[in-house]
Amino acid sequence: MPQLPLIAVTRRLPEICEQRLSNNYRVRLGDDAAVYSAEALAAHASDVAGLIVSPADTLDAAAIAKLPTSIKVMPTFSVGTDHIDLNAAKARGIVVTNTPGVLTDATADIAMLLMLGVMRRGGEGERLVRAGTWIGWRPTQLMGTQLGSKTLGIIGMGRIGIAVAVRAKAFGMRIIYHNRKPTPEAQTLGAEYAPSLDDMLPKCQVLSLHCPMSPETKNLLDARRLALLPKGAYVINTARGGHVVDDALIAALTSGHIAGAGLDVYAGEPNLDPRYRTLENAMLLPHLGSATTETRVAMGMMVIDNLDAVLSGQPPPNRVV
Ligand code: DGY
Repeated sequence: MPQLPLIAVTRRLPEICEQRLSNNYRVRLGDDAAVYSAEALAAHASDVAGLIVSPADTLDAAAIAKLPTSIKVMPTFSVGTDHIDLNAAKARGIVVTNTPGVLTDATADIAMLLMLGVMRRGGEGERLVRAGTWIGWRPTQLMGTQLGSKTLGIIGMGRIGIAVAVRAKAFGMRIIYHNRKPTPEAQTLGAEYAPSLDDMLPKCQVLSLHCPMSPETKNLLDARRLALLPKGAYVINTARGGHVVDDALIAALTSGHIAGAGLDVYAGEPNLDPRYRTLENAMLLPHLGSATTETRVAMGMMVIDNLDAVLSGQPPPNRVV
C-alpha cells in the first residue's frame, strides 16, 4: 500500500480538524509556542507535500526560498495573507489558499466588544473590581459614552465591515464608510459612502478599521489622519496592527485627542508597543477576532478542503495564488 502524503502544520488545530487530517495524511504538528526562523520552518517542512501556516508565521521571500521543493500547497489558517510573500510563493509554484467568509461574524463581534468595552470603559471597570479598589456605586463613577446616535466611520466595507455596520446600526449608530467604491449592501443599510477618507474622518466619532493589509493601507492611520478625527473620537482596530502608526496613536491617546482605542491587532505581534499597556483608555485583546470554536473549526475544515483539492489534482476553492 502506498504511503499517505506527509503534511506539516506550524501550530495545533482544533481537535476535530487534526483528526480529519490524520485520516488522510501523515501529519507533523507544530508547537503553539514556537517562533519559527526560516531555517526552523524549513526543517519542520522537510519532505512535506503541504504546509499549513498561520498569521503568526513569517513566510517572507527568504523563508519561502528555504522551503523544500516537495511542497505543492501552503494553506493559511486565516483570511489575511500579509504574512506570506505571495509573489515568492507563486514563483516557487506553491499554491496558497486562505479562509474567507467563515470568520466574518466572529470578527465583527469582537469589533463590537471593543467598541462597547472602550466606550463604556469595561476594561477599566474590570481592572477596578479585580484590584479590589472598587469603593461602591457612585453617580460619577467610570462614566462612558453611549454608542447610540454616534457616527461610526468604517474603513473597508468588505464582508467584515458590512457585518460591523449591521451590528452598529442595531445599536442606533449612524454609519459612514470609505471604500474603493460604494457597495450595494452598505447602501441597503443606509450607510453613507465617503469617496475621500480625509473628508470622512472629521465626521467620525468612532472609527473602525476593516481593510486588508497592503502597501497602500500600511500606516494608514498616521498622526495627520488621527488629527482629522474630532477630539474625543474612538479608534477600533481588528484588521492589522500595521495600519496604525503606534507613536501617533499613543500620543493621541495620551493627549486625549483620541478618547479611547480598542485594539485586537498590533504591529510586531505578540510584542506590541509596551506603552499601550500603561494606557487606561486602551482596551487590548490578543488577536481574538476569529477565536470562536465554531469559526476556528470552520477555518480548519476550509484549510483541509483546500489542501485535499490541491493534493488530489483539483482546483482549490480558495486559491490566493
Ligand atoms: C485572519 O484570518 O486573517 C485573522 O486575522 C485571524 O483571526
